[in-house]
Amino acid sequence: MPKDMTAPSTDIFERRESAARSYCRGMPATFATARGSQVFDAEGRSWIDFLAGCSSLNYGHNDPDMKEALIAHISGDGIAHGLDLHTDAKAAFLAAFERHILEPRDMDHRVMFTGPTGANAVEAAMKLARKATGRTNIIAFTNGFHGVTAGALAATGNGYHRGGAGMALQGVTRMPYDGYFGGHADTADFLEVMLKDKSGGIDAPAAILLETVQGEGGLNAARPEWVQRVAKLAKAHGALLIIDDIQAGCGRCGSFFSFEEMGVTPDIVTMAKSLSGFGLPMAMVLVRPEHDLFGPAEHNGTFRGNTHAFVTARVAIEKFWADDGFQKDLADKAALIHDRLADLAAMVPEGRIKGRGLMQGVDVGSGDLAGDICARAYDMGLVIETSGNEDQVVKVLAPLTTSQEVLRKGFEILLKAADEALAGTTKMAAE
Ligand SMILES: Cc1ncc(COP(=O)(O)O)c(C=O)c1O
Repeated sequence: MPKDMTAPSTDIFERRESAARSYCRGMPATFATARGSQVFDAEGRSWIDFLAGCSSLNYGHNDPDMKEALIAHISGDGIAHGLDLHTDAKAAFLAAFERHILEPRDMDHRVMFTGPTGANAVEAAMKLARKATGRTNIIAFTNGFHGVTAGALAATGNGYHRGGAGMALQGVTRMPYDGYFGGHADTADFLEVMLKDKSGGIDAPAAILLETVQGEGGLNAARPEWVQRVAKLAKAHGALLIIDDIQAGCGRCGSFFSFEEMGVTPDIVTMAKSLSGFGLPMAMVLVRPEHDLFGPAEHNGTFRGNTHAFVTARVAIEKFWADDGFQKDLADKAALIHDRLADLAAMVPEGRIKGRGLMQGVDVGSGDLAGDICARAYDMGLVIETSGNEDQVVKVLAPLTTSQEVLRKGFEILLKAADEALAGTTKMAAE
């Protein structure tokens, strides 16, 4: 599906683009078009997409209904940028979100639009919890990833990203996530004891911030019982529970919110990535009414209302979440992904399946091996990435709309890539 455009020479990237670029180093094609679960370069070479904009394209590339609505909005001179003014597009999104997402889940949360990145939503959530409680300390967990702006970065565990801050990262106490000590200890016990001990050295927390599945941190999935205990501890200690659903939400774990079958109601939820449905920047914070305490523009931002994103986000909600058909389909796909990943895990000594829903992968034990598998998969026509503290997890983030047939094709490539990478490893080990 080549696009009618003469591609400029690619050395422009080497010459001019900052050294901060990253994904493009391992996947150096110049991508031109995309549809559904496939991306194409200008010559028409295609890849199956098991990365989905790092879960920003849960409904695939260029969904035809979202595209049509957006084109109609633009052709009709609809508002493109509206600060946080009332627009018809914002009203329609809010009405659809209230009707199909919040009300059926009995959530009375208010919707606060932030600057359009996940990190900005996390900044707003942390500030809001501090304002609501008059406390500064926020408890975050090992291997949590919440973005790289200064406030959010303080909550992020990753040493490489933290190292880029160039300043002290403050206001966060780190606690072990569920399973951090393997099966040996329940880290909720640890949290409970630490919080109870007035000489434990932990300042009373404004919030406890967590992902129910750690996307960047290696697909560590918290047990519902653990999340419930943490929620209870937050309440008992006067702290707000913030669930960062930026990567795990919007259907990625099999239901709209990653926590909805866990029996907890977070005080604050952060959302971004697939919220617009179309890959357009959009982020927001859901907050219980009693904590909706920012004054007008106190958490400011020029792009707090990306009207084009409102248009596509409304279509995404109405198309996929107005009934339970899509969600049922996700359960079948999650089972298929689990089966194929079991094949991959069986190939690798001590390979382990991680994650849940459509956010699963295999810990192959080393970053080198995982990187090798992904690099070979890319050469064979599959875009896929790693995650984890050592980049040791091969992570499948296919669009949720990927057909079972395309999922199977993608896994054929992945297993072949793993086979070749492992043969290479064995050969190297024998030499
Ligand atoms: C759970 C989580 N929170 C926050 C962020 C930050 O989002 P953004 O990159 O849009 O700032 C990410 C990004 O991967 C994420 O996975």
